[in-house]
Order: sequence, then structure tokens, then C-alpha cells
Amino acid sequence: MGKITPQILVTFIRINKKPGKTINHQLYEQLKNGIYEGMLRPFDRMPSSREMSVELKISRNIVLQVFDQLKMEGFFESKTGSGTFVSKNVDKFSYPKSQPIRPVQKPEHYTARPYGLNNAFKGHISALEPRRPFQQSIPLIPEFPFPAWARISAGVNKNINRLHLGYDDAQGYLPLRKALCDHLRISRSINCDPENMLIVNGTRQALHLAAELLLNKGDQCWMEDPGYAGATSAIQRFGGQICPVPVTSDGLDLDFAMHNYPKSKLAYVTPSHQFPMGNTMALNDRIKLLNWAKDNQMWIIEDDYDSEFRYDSRPIPALQGMDTNGNVIYSGTLSKVLLPALRLGYMVFPTEAMARQFATAKSVIDGQGNIITQAIVSEFISQGHFSRHVRRMRLLYKKAQDDLVSLINLHLRDRLTPVPVEAGMHFIAWLSTSINAGIIANECFKAGVIINPLSSSGIKFKHPNGLILGFAGFSFGEMEKAVLILKQVLDKHL
Ligand SMILES: Cc1ncc(COP(=O)(O)O)c(C=O)c1O
Repeated sequence: MGKITPQILVTFIRINKKPGKTINHQLYEQLKNGIYEGMLRPFDRMPSSREMSVELKISRNIVLQVFDQLKMEGFFESKTGSGTFVSKNVDKFSYPKSQPIRPVQKPEHYTARPYGLNNAFKGHISALEPRRPFQQSIPLIPEFPFPAWARISAGVNKNINRLHLGYDDAQGYLPLRKALCDHLRISRSINCDPENMLIVNGTRQALHLAAELLLNKGDQCWMEDPGYAGATSAIQRFGGQICPVPVTSDGLDLDFAMHNYPKSKLAYVTPSHQFPMGNTMALNDRIKLLNWAKDNQMWIIEDDYDSEFRYDSRPIPALQGMDTNGNVIYSGTLSKVLLPALRLGYMVFPTEAMARQFATAKSVIDGQGNIITQAIVSEFISQGHFSRHVRRMRLLYKKAQDDLVSLINLHLRDRLTPVPVEAGMHFIAWLSTSINAGIIANECFKAGVIINPLSSSGIKFKHPNGLILGFAGFSFGEMEKAVLILKQVLDKHL
């Protein structure tokens, strides 16, 4: 039930005063159609005849006549002193509730192009739902410095007219590119310049642009197996051929890749912290990979998604900083260090020209990212909140990992073996039961705990029975509850 304002009404009522149907007839038909099509619902209160006549610029008498007619036919009712309402019985006249307001007919010729969508991208969670352990990739959001963010946002919004608020250069807000380059040079040893950087809406957009611009149909691509479904989906979407490469304790198995897929045009790698296994690519392998890329004209996409959170030592320098031949395209994200909801990431290219080419492609898809958010983030970084936040989170995540390991050892000893990591926000835990990790994960999901089986990141190779547990975003209490739910699920399968 709602009050229909005259302004709402005129969004679907158009009175044409040219010769043709009478005004009376037009109003009558359009109000009735409004009911049939579900725009007017039972108990909706209509504007007064006076308001309608003013808004529609027609005589009040006509409105009164039409209201009377619709009352007679049972579409409207009036209550003395309260006005005119859509009758409670109109559901009998309108489309069944389960149908969309305007039923959509699927045209005969319609066939959606297959997308190669990986299961990992199905079943998204609404922004209004609480976070649930052990969801991967979720930062400890309650610890985000909201007061500083609010202060900076207020400042940016107060002076919003200083920003260029029209369509702008898709390469991204220059002060943000400068701030990110300063950060990347110092903390990740990246060879970086604002002109070589493109701000994107997260890694996923980076991967899509890279696949679109770098690949021809059928081009082979080395892909870590297990690996990030976002990369597989992007490569497949643009016709690339996924070449699964096993992951060893040193990262991508280079000998396997070079032997089996020597003609590969692109390699997707997470060298600082392999996703999801957590291994770091050894120095020798980094050099070997860079040399191979140079000799075979292969692009390397380095996805450096969460290496700010390194617990035992200083972050390992990125592969990009070692590349002297311009084969590496570096991709980073603010989803882990700040918030996934910002949808902000960045790419660093070997040349300015390449950054411009990618910016042009981005401008075809969606133009520049949200400039207001970019302005807030660049202030947030230059005022020092970013590095302070990373330092704080590193300590909290290290503690969260230690807590989860001890909770598992306390409640699930002999059932689950955690493999703590030196970096990142999740670890793998091996199941000692032969029950399939996918079954365990499904049952946990129904009980409110989100766990991905390792197999969900697999492509071709068989992987041991493991669970991926995100530990970063949750309090001790939340994790303990979730561990006990996992215990109940495992107990059922004893
Ligand atoms: C390997 C990997 N790269 C990147 C991302 C971040 O993606 P985005 O920047 O689109 O949020 C994730 C998030 O889960 C990830 O697991």
C-alpha cells in the first residue's frame, strides 16, 4: 500500500491533446492499464482529483468522471474523508503476482553465448548479509578506520566542485595513480610511473581487459592449477585456451609448462602468494620464467592480490620489478588491503603506450572509475592512513591465523590439518576423512559457514581433499562457533 503522488502518476500517464481519443478515454485506459501491469497495486491511495488535474493539465471534472467510472467497475474504492484507493480486489484483474510487471518473452532466436562461468562466481552474497566465516578474501571490516574515511570523504565532498565531474580520462584519477605508485615503489619494488598505470574496477576487470587485448582465439595460456577462477573465466571468455599447470612448493611447475605448452602466449601467475595454495615462487623460478617470456614473446600477468600481508618477513618484491624486458603486466587490488566494496584495482604496464591502449579499451566498457571514490582513496593514502591500516591489519591477521590454527588443533585434532601461511588471508587445511571436501562444504554452507573445497579452484589435476579457510575477516568468537559447526558436520561422517 502506498500513496501515489501525482508526480509518480505522470511517469506512466501521457495525455495527448491532439485530435484522436478523448482525454476522458485516455485517462481511463491508462489508469486501468496501470492496474493490469501492476504499477498500481491494491490499497494504493490515488492523488486527489484536484492534484491530478493540475499535474496532468486537464479539467478536474474529467478526473472525477474517470474516477467514478473506475469505481463503478470495481477498480477504485473511496472512503469518506480518506480519498480514493485502488480496490483490494484488483489482484483478480491483474497479472499473477509471480510474474514480472511486464512479462518478458524470450525471443525464439535468443541464445546466450556460453560464458565458461566458473562455479566460484555463482551464488553471490547480498551486501546486506553479514560476513560469514570462513569466507575467503574478506578483510576484517569492523577494524577499517571508518572515522578517518568519513572525515576525508566529508572533505572531498565539501570541495567536490574542484573535481572534474564529467566524463573523464579512463586511465584514472592522477593523484591516486601517483599515490599508488609511491606505495608500490617502496613496498613492492615495482618499477612504476603514473603514466604507466591504469586504475580499474578491481582485478577482475584487469584480467578481462588483458584477455581481451592480448589474446587471439585459441591462444594458449598457462594457468596455475589450482588457481584463481577469475583468471580462467576471463581467458576463456575471450577465446584463450586454458593450459593447466600444476603448482609445486615453488609455485608454477615451469618445466611442465615449458615442455607441454611451449607456444603459450600468456601466463597467469600469483608469484608472491600462490592462490589458493599459498606458496611463494622461488627466485630461480622467477628468473627462469622471465627469461622464457623474453625468448618466447609471452606475456606474464602477475596478480599480486594480497602480498601486503606478509607475516614473517618484509614482503617479497614483485616479479614486475625484476622484469627488464617488458613482459610483465602487474595487477593489484584494494579489495584486500581496504575493502572489496570499493571495486578499485590497478594495472602497471611496461610502457605508457600500452597503458593508453588499455585505457581506451576501458573507456569502451565503462569509462573512468568512480572519481569521487578515487579522490577519497588518494587522500586516504597520502595522509598515511593506508600504510597505518596495512601495518595494523598485518598484526591482527597474524593473530587471527594463530587463533584459527589453535581452534582447529583444539576441536578438530586428527580430523583436519591446517597449513599456516607466511602471507595472505586464508590457508588450506587437509581433511583426514575420505568424505569429499565438497560434501563437507555444502553441509557447512547450510549451517551458515562458508568453506570452499580446494577442488573448487582446480581445473584439470586432481587435488588432495582440502578446505580453503579464510581467517582474516573474523573475530575469535565467530571462528570458534564456525569450527564447532564444522566439527558437527565432520562428526556426522565419522
Ligand atoms: C587470486 C585473486 N586475485 C584477485 C582477487 C581480487 O579481485 P578483485 O580485485 O576483483 O576484488 C581475488 C579475490 O578473491 C583473488 O582471489
